[in-house]
Parts: sequence; C-alpha cells; structure tokens
Amino acid sequence: MTHTVTPSMTIEPLNPAIGARVSGLQLKDGLSDAQRDAVLAALLRHHVLFFEGQDLSPASQRAVAARFGPLHIHPIYPHVADVPEIIILDTSLDNPPDNDNWHTDVTFLAEPAMGALLAAKQLPPSGGDTLWASGVAAWNALSDPWKRMLAGLHAEHDILKSFPAWRFARTPEEKLRWDKARADHPPRLHPVVRTHPVSGHQGLFVNDGFTTRIVELHPSESDAVLKQLFAHVSKPEFTVRWRWKLGDVAFWDNRLTQHYATSDYLPARRVMHRATVMGDAPFFRPA
Ligand code: OGA
Ligand code: MN
Repeated sequence: MTHTVTPSMTIEPLNPAIGARVSGLQLKDGLSDAQRDAVLAALLRHHVLFFEGQDLSPASQRAVAARFGPLHIHPIYPHVADVPEIIILDTSLDNPPDNDNWHTDVTFLAEPAMGALLAAKQLPPSGGDTLWASGVAAWNALSDPWKRMLAGLHAEHDILKSFPAWRFARTPEEKLRWDKARADHPPRLHPVVRTHPVSGHQGLFVNDGFTTRIVELHPSESDAVLKQLFAHVSKPEFTVRWRWKLGDVAFWDNRLTQHYATSDYLPARRVMHRATVMGDAPFFRPA
C-alpha cells in the first residue's frame, strides 16, 4: 500500500521484507531536514529505497549522501576526477564485474558503512539487475537452536577475499595501491549477529564477499555454518530485485543487508556511481 509521508513524498513497499519505491523527491535539489528524516525512517523500515527520474551529477550525489553522514573514500576502487567520494563501477569485457556475489559493502572496516547511494549512469540493453537481501528477515527465519548457537559468535572479515591480488594488483601502479589497502585494512572481527544501532533489530551480519571464518568454531565447522548462512540469506523471500532504468538511484542501509550485482550483460557496458556513508562499530545486544 502506498502512503504519503510528507506533502510531496510517497513510499510504496515492493514486498514485506525489503525494498520500497520513493516518489516525490528530486534528490539534486537537496533534502530538507524533514525529508531527510522521512527518508531515514523509510530506510529503517524497508532497508533499500529506490528513487526514479533522478538527475544526479557526481557533486550532487555527494551532497545528498553527505546529508546522512561523513563519506568514505574507497582504498581500491577508482573514483570520479575531483570527487573522490564517488566510486566508479564501470564494467565491460575489459573490466568484468566483480560484485556478482552476495556482499555487504566494506565490512573489512572496523566501522563498516551505514549506507550507500548508487546511481545508474550507463546501462546495458538488458540485464544488470541488482538484488538486495534483508539480514533481519534471514535471521528471523532461522530456527531457535541455530539462533542460540550463532548469538555472540564473531566472524573475520578480510578485504583480500573480495580484492585479491590477481585481480586488483596486476600493474605496478595497482600493486602500490593494493599493498597500501592491505596494510591499512587488517582483517576485522564483527559479531555474526548484529543489533541495528537505530532500529534495535537483530540480523545476520556475515557475507560471502568478505567473511572468511567464524573464529569460535573449528575451521570445518565454520566452513559448513558459513556455507549454510550464505545460502540462506539469499532466499527469494528475503530479497528484492531491481531492474535499473537511467535516472534510478538506490539508497540502502548497509548495516543489515547484502546485495548482489547480476553479471549477465557482457559484452555490454554498465556504469554506476556510488557514494558510501560511514557507519559505526557493529555490536550484538542479546534480545
Ligand atoms: C556497490 C555494488 C551493485 C551494482 O555499489 O556496492 O555492489 O549493481 N554495486 O552495481
Ligand atoms: Mn556493493
């Protein structure tokens, strides 16, 4: 059901677990405090929001994202000239996609991103959809014995799992940047079950992109449990799939979601711009 939030802004849920279309806002015009608060409230409820018919330059994308907090500058991905906060994801046969796995952004940081704003700049004739999954819905669907086992455990998140040398350190110039990224980002431990710092919801916080092991388990146990959790979180019931049009912008809460960029469009090219809002240190508070 669509409902009106401020005189101009409406929110249409896409399914019960995750995703909503927001209309009535032109992001390039900036957000009033009331609009920003309404967007944040919708984000907490729906986890990922879609804004259509937008026209964001890199500078205006940075300005909108910065209304939600300080922005992160990625250690490896390229950025727009003069706008280092805007990552360029420009994929084609020459630079094949690397986001075709379920991941939460930058969980190799001690304080992973709170959210990200992604804008479609150039799209393939077909394909290139992105899916998001709700870690809250995935957690809620687990049995009580699994929940009891997982609560309080910690997992390691490693930048090298998604940014391996064979792909990101191929030239001397890349190798310098990659060496620095690795040195600046040692593996981090985060709770396997995270409590959302604002909503208080609990959700699964392990992702195939960066999570290497659950440190309290034997390695073979950790492998088996992670394999199960990675498969579980992507059940269609916990996900929403977005078919991009030019002018679309997605804003997701990166604290209890994962996403997957479908890699089905080569040899066509696809260009996206991302701004990443910094977050806080994950914690687990028992219910
Ligand atoms: C990202 C990402 C998905 C996509 O920007 O973090 O994973 O569909 N992008 O490009
Ligand atoms: Mn991503």
